[in-house]
Amino acid sequence: MHPLDRPRRLRTDGVRPLVSETDLSATDLIAPVFVDATTDERVPIGTMPGHERVPVAETVARVEEVLSTGVEAVIVFGIPESKDPTGSRAYAPDGVVQRAIRRVSAETDAYVVGDVCLCEYTDHGHCGVIEADAETDPTLTVRNDETLDLLARTAVSQADAGADMVAPSAMTDGQVRAIRAALDEAGHEDVALMSYAVKYESAFYGPFRDAADGAPAFGDRRHYQMDPANRREALREARLDAAEGADVLMVKPGLPYLDVVRDLREEFDHPIAAYNVSGEYAMLHAAAEKGWLDLEATAHESLLSLKRSGADLIVTYFAEDLAERL
Ligand code: PBG
Repeated sequence: MHPLDRPRRLRTDGVRPLVSETDLSATDLIAPVFVDATTDERVPIGTMPGHERVPVAETVARVEEVLSTGVEAVIVFGIPESKDPTGSRAYAPDGVVQRAIRRVSAETDAYVVGDVCLCEYTDHGHCGVIEADAETDPTLTVRNDETLDLLARTAVSQADAGADMVAPSAMTDGQVRAIRAALDEAGHEDVALMSYAVKYESAFYGPFRDAADGAPAFGDRRHYQMDPANRREALREARLDAAEGADVLMVKPGLPYLDVVRDLREEFDHPIAAYNVSGEYAMLHAAAEKGWLDLEATAHESLLSLKRSGADLIVTYFAEDLAERL
């Protein structure tokens, strides 16, 4: 008996590229850049091999390194000189991210995205203004509506500095509408908005919290970030953000949530982004260091899988390493 059909015919080296369903290219990727106001030297990030926090003076050089690999977009995260209860350095015109963005947009051709959140800037490490008794009462955390204004100010200050796109990641209800309205009011109607529409309360953010110094001082983020058990709720979140004016809808983390990326792909015509987060990066590095996995091959397969599941663009710490090989 011969097989009825032979899919192996299309797996020869000559034909594989012709029938390949998914492409990955450097221009699909956004590289995270960490700017640190507390240092005047580059500081390696221990939990994320190959990544560094750089001082403002080094930001342009850092972004030029990214551009030289073929990646054209960066997302900027800041470590401020000081923190306070309302995260005021997140929306200060001379804040670390604003200073960095001003230089990068003036001196490079990069497409610049600003991460809009307060957790790196508040002394309690939560993504907004907290309830008075939040430290002792585990049922309390962020006050939603008071946080909206601070996020809007943060986004406008980044746009004033020259950001091409802002990316709110605080999971505050109504943040897309508040930010879109404030941007338009300030004359920034051309600044795009990529919403971290579906952001789970994930343990895969661990290494980032070291990198950006944004771990909550008490409690966790389960009252505002999504429950990893929920899939239908992801569509509800994404529909709200689409209705509020988001240009791009993001799912975060990436690999553990491919079903959700696919759900959004099928439901929306918007570009869908996936965030291949710090833990996804760190675990491949750790296994590769032990000689248990091939780093380059697993990184490539990870990003290809995000695209296959429906992502158009990917925020990833592998951006530079992979782009050089694509
Ligand atoms: C800020 C923010 C976080 C990440 C991106 N923006 C941290 C968090 O929500 O705890 C995580 C990125 C990563 O793990 O790579 N809110």
